[in-house]
Amino acid sequence: MTPLAPTQSFSHAPDAVDPGKVPYRIAYTGAKIPAIGLGTFGSDRISGEQIAEAVFGAASVGYRHFDCAAVYGNEHLIGHSLQRILEGGVPREELWITSKLWNDKHAEEDVIPAFERSLKDLKLDYLDLYLIHWPFPNYHAPGCDVTSRSPDAKPYIHENYMKTWRKLEELVAMGLVRHIGTSNMTIPKLRLVLRDARIKPACNEMELHPHFQQSELFQFVIDNDMVPIGFSPIGSPARPDRDRSESDTVDIEDPVIVKIAQRLDVHPAVVCVKWAVQRGQIPIPFSVNRRNYLGNLRAVVADPLTAEEMEEISRIDRNCRLIKGDVFLWKENQTWEDLWDVKGDITPQLHLYE
Ligand SMILES: NC(=O)c1ccc[n+]([C@@H]2O[C@H](COP(=O)([O-])OP(=O)(O)OC[C@H]3O[C@@H](n4cnc5c(N)ncnc54)[C@H](OP(=O)(O)O)[C@@H]3O)[C@@H](O)[C@H]2O)c1
Repeated sequence: MTPLAPTQSFSHAPDAVDPGKVPYRIAYTGAKIPAIGLGTFGSDRISGEQIAEAVFGAASVGYRHFDCAAVYGNEHLIGHSLQRILEGGVPREELWITSKLWNDKHAEEDVIPAFERSLKDLKLDYLDLYLIHWPFPNYHAPGCDVTSRSPDAKPYIHENYMKTWRKLEELVAMGLVRHIGTSNMTIPKLRLVLRDARIKPACNEMELHPHFQQSELFQFVIDNDMVPIGFSPIGSPARPDRDRSESDTVDIEDPVIVKIAQRLDVHPAVVCVKWAVQRGQIPIPFSVNRRNYLGNLRAVVADPLTAEEMEEISRIDRNCRLIKGDVFLWKENQTWEDLWDVKGDITPQLHLYE
């Protein structure tokens, strides 16, 4: 299939933010990671062509960091945009490109081919970061609903995770990826990975927004010299139906967020982005709307929140996880909490499954 978008040549927009002014975080390798990235998951609603166009447009307004994944089904289109961005004169080393290994590719023999597919689709010769998307090898079909379960679903089995991790380490040794990392992890799982990894995770991607601050895990990640990357930073208002439940709260309607947005004359989403960057995580807000993605980038270079506002936001945590992961459950009568080790141990005990 011929990619539809974009077709124009690359240039910086007159209203672009200077990428050199965007703050960055430093990985333990010394690499600089732009402190905001553009998300690329279309939530089963937005087409790959629109997202590829947004990647191109976002680079032209100053973004240099893009959060991709094989399962988003659009890397072949985004690759076309990246190629034009690079041909347009943006040096490769200015870009930070992440991709993720999907759950049905955890088997040792599948990891490197899956990585190579992403690399080829993205039209790159190396990635900056490759993550294991979820710690469960449990496939679910794109667009499935919340009741969907894989018949061969499994819990977290550390030995298996490390076999997958070793293949990621091999990719580093091969020079194909600069950093490797984890996603959707918990403290007990990360403790084991940190104990056994030869190459430690550089980043942990985790859900983070004002109503879901995960303070303990956030601190654990920082204390262990990983960079926290925060997904769904705006509270994912357009997330798929399978990720919605009645008890979910809405960050961008929180009175504290709305009040600060009014002071700054911005959309509440922008306040969420500012909070994230000032707190120390890297938010990766999704947007295909130029005004919004430009506003999110400007948010990190101007008009910081005050110390009092940061303090106020720290007090509106609702512990409201939105991306609960029900579809990854592995037996009957479980609840999504079982995926997140809420009692402090890996659920269930490993020996039951080994
Ligand atoms: N590792 C993982 O398992 C995982 C899980 C979930 C997500 N992610 C990553 O995180 C990214 C972001 O998360 P998300 O897509 O769930 O949600 P999100 O970034 O919290 O929210 C995106 C939504 O906010 C709107 N928006 C963005 N900026 C706005 C602004 N300034 N004003 C008003 N509305 C605004 C967007 O609409 P418009 O397009 O109209 O602007 C879009 O509907 C994903 O795209 C993906 O890359 C990773």
